[in-house]
Amino acid sequence: MAGPDIIALCNQKGGVGKTTCALNIAVGLTLLRKKVLVIDFDPQAHLTYSLGLDAPNLPGAIDAVMKGEKPLADAILDLKGLQVLPAGPSLAKLETELAARPGKESLLKDCLAGAADVSYVIIDCPPSAGLLTVNALVACREVFIPLQMEFLALKGMSRLLTLIEDVRKTYGTNGPSYRVIPTRYDARKRLNNAIMDKVRERFGPRVFRTVIRENIAIAEAPSFGQSIFEYAPRSHGAEDYLDLCREMIRRRPV
Ligand SMILES: Nc1ncnc2c1ncn2[C@@H]1O[C@H](COP(=O)(O)OP(=O)(O)O)[C@@H](O)[C@H]1O
Ligand SMILES: [Mg+2]
Repeated sequence: MAGPDIIALCNQKGGVGKTTCALNIAVGLTLLRKKVLVIDFDPQAHLTYSLGLDAPNLPGAIDAVMKGEKPLADAILDLKGLQVLPAGPSLAKLETELAARPGKESLLKDCLAGAADVSYVIIDCPPSAGLLTVNALVACREVFIPLQMEFLALKGMSRLLTLIEDVRKTYGTNGPSYRVIPTRYDARKRLNNAIMDKVRERFGPRVFRTVIRENIAIAEAPSFGQSIFEYAPRSHGAEDYLDLCREMIRRRPV
């Protein structure tokens, strides 16, 4: 069998919904009976905190694996069936520590070769285009770009698309494809609708049909260390994220 479907949540902008998507997609897929590994690849460790884990007191996880100090299996935590590679404080130093390492762009890809028993790997990227993000792009099969339907939403995106293209050129057909997830959508806002039209026109089938609506429960859930499915299972947020997961399973990459 082919390895897991590896997906990176990327956008150089902060606050667009990368972490929220990574967490709720990972949990949503487990509810659909998929085996999932979710990786917190952002030194801010927001995903780790959102899972109710105590990031500052965790032993080095993903960074220790990438430096070859720990086998992948020893670094993974099991949270009610969801496999988690949390971020500890040492992740912040990783980019400088690896600066002179040959093959430094493909360390994550190499590590994930050992993740054979899951069907999905979901990577939450930092809001930057540094070595961590490059490692995620090299490792993944698809980049999911969360996008808010606001003024300047597309600004800065061309840089990410260029970076994805560069990785594709370097790694040939194994380079990642990408799709856009419309997030924090509010149908009452005319600007949201106008920008949604523009985004669909520009990216066509690369835009998920499922739209994640603005939903207060989504913003509240992390402070309880819960996904939207535990915190508010009957909310719009839970409905949208489950629909998104179903669409992911149904529709192959473009
Ligand atoms: N659909 C949504 N409805 C309401 N709030 C949301 C939604 N998606 C994300 N948020 C909130 O927006 C903020 C930024 O989201 P986050 O996922 O942390 O972005 P990023 O990881 O891109 O920085 C967080 O406070 C989060 O709870
Ligand atoms: Mg984040």
